[in-house]
Amino acid sequence: MTGPARSAGPVGVFDSGVGGLSVLRRIRARLPHEDLLYIADSGHAPYGDRPADWIRARSLELADLLVARGAKAIVVACNTATAAAAAVLRERHALPIVAMEPAVKPAAAATKSGVVGVLATVGTLKSAQFAALLDRFANGIEVITQPCPGLVECVERGELDTHATRALVARYVAPLLARGADTIVLGCTHYPFLQPLIAELAGPQVALIETGPAVARQLERRLKEDGLAVERARLGSSAFYASGDLSLANRVMRRLWAEDASIEALLPE
Ligand code: DGL
Repeated sequence: MTGPARSAGPVGVFDSGVGGLSVLRRIRARLPHEDLLYIADSGHAPYGDRPADWIRARSLELADLLVARGAKAIVVACNTATAAAAAVLRERHALPIVAMEPAVKPAAAATKSGVVGVLATVGTLKSAQFAALLDRFANGIEVITQPCPGLVECVERGELDTHATRALVARYVAPLLARGADTIVLGCTHYPFLQPLIAELAGPQVALIETGPAVARQLERRLKEDGLAVERARLGSSAFYASGDLSLANRVMRRLWAEDASIEALLPE
């Protein structure tokens, strides 16, 4: 395929569910002319408690679906899937694969107290990739990790500020504050949708850091380097697919993305 024809394809983005929309909104803001194709694998969320082998196989399937729909680049908008599958995805596909990792590096640079908290899924925190990230970037600072079972499910149900969500967030943030964290890494793409609640419960002295903006910048860089960036006047389109309960996906994704978003069933599941 020639350069311009390849650059005409969409950027494919996937997550275990609706959380990756927090990354997609950063991509949309940075790359307004790109067509975007998003898969929310909500029928299988959460990934965080599943075996790495399962996550790897499912990530390969989702990437294949995106490539079959013409994706010119793939963004793994899920920390858990990145830890389990980024390497195999890069082996299988020659296109740019941009993936997430918890923002430990910028947090280590930003902290004044020398204590950083990381909120993430069980899968991310127990991965070898996360251990390597700490080895590389957490020298001289204390990193307190907090697995957050149940939080992804709250966001999947669109419960961003219910009593139950509030109680879970309070339980997960308290140990970080007690140990003196002044910077908290949102190490799962679902958590930026809980940012107002986390910020309220953590207090104004605590900075929250997410990876979405860095991923959008990295995607822009990769598209330019590979000659894949679109050059056209029209604004890009956004298409959405979801597995699982389609009416729930429509309700929640319209709230998190835009009222006029139209979500189609992901086939085959
Ligand atoms: N958004 C996913 C992440 O960033 C959530 C994983 C899950 O489904 O547990 O890790």
